[in-house]
Amino acid sequence: MAKKGRILSGHRPSGLLHIGHYEGTLRNWRALQDDYECFFEIADWHALTTEYEETSDLPFLIEQLAIDWLASGLDPERSVLFVQSDVMEHAELHLLLSMITPVSWLERCPTYKDRLQQLGDEGSPGYGLLGYPVLQAADIIIYKANVVPVGEDQLPHLELSREIARRFNNFYGEVFPEPQALLAEFPAVPGVDGRKMSKTYDNAINLSDTPDEITQKIKTMFTDPEKLRMGDAGHPDKCAVFAYQQIYNEESRVEEIREECESGELGCVACKAEVTERLLETMEPVMQRRAELADNLDHVRAVLADGAERAQAVAAETMREVREVMHL
Ligand code: TRP
Repeated sequence: MAKKGRILSGHRPSGLLHIGHYEGTLRNWRALQDDYECFFEIADWHALTTEYEETSDLPFLIEQLAIDWLASGLDPERSVLFVQSDVMEHAELHLLLSMITPVSWLERCPTYKDRLQQLGDEGSPGYGLLGYPVLQAADIIIYKANVVPVGEDQLPHLELSREIARRFNNFYGEVFPEPQALLAEFPAVPGVDGRKMSKTYDNAINLSDTPDEITQKIKTMFTDPEKLRMGDAGHPDKCAVFAYQQIYNEESRVEEIREECESGELGCVACKAEVTERLLETMEPVMQRRAELADNLDHVRAVLADGAERAQAVAAETMREVREVMHL
């Protein structure tokens, strides 16, 4: 079947993925494999732009991310799953793009400005951090990807990728398509404390959690602070457990739950037990596959080795073209 185009997206290997990543990113990537030729990159060089001092965890983090991806249904038969640092061509294109990218474009980038602020007066950002979006542009355009599914936080980087591609094409001729961002609609998955789900807050339900761990995490969730005992009226829209109901339960049941919570008929303990069951039902196949993959690291490594080879074949071809138009 003819595909609609080529996709590249990526993720830094910065920790175990959680159900928020699954609902927000991975479901979407998995579905896109039907319509697009997909490249999914584990961006280990990008991780180094901030985590460069202690790198001994990197091989583990890379493998765990690959396991999370495979368990979630990224399919190495159809898509190319690879590690950025396995494809040296990214570094060469990054270098060449860094020549044509004005520093002022990079200094304006909101993610860079945020980081500067975090560093405070004393800290000086690494040279690589300033170039983060240049490396990301290289990642994308070296595959001539036209579509990049990302979260909203990545839009400034995508805008820069387009500007860099355009500038290159203006100087040397039409080599690169301008990549378009693809934003997906997805439900927000709050953490078990009601804040944004995040590794830093220690409030995540990970794909690597066991059913027991998940049951325990949901049991301790904060609910509506005004609903203290069974019989009190609840306010579902302020409750993280209800947010989970909306994701994991059937629509008709969710409406019943809303009414039963508001009337006080449904207590939080029962509500949590029900949503735990639904969540486990939905995530069971992913978690099961994950456990199998974690026991079969040779397979995971073979997938990444094969992915590196397939990615490199495309990247090397683009670099031949780039060197030629730049007279290198
Ligand atoms: N910057 C992205 C993130 O933090 C990761 C990334 C690296 C990426 N290269 C990419 C995303 C290329 C899309 C395309 O999530």
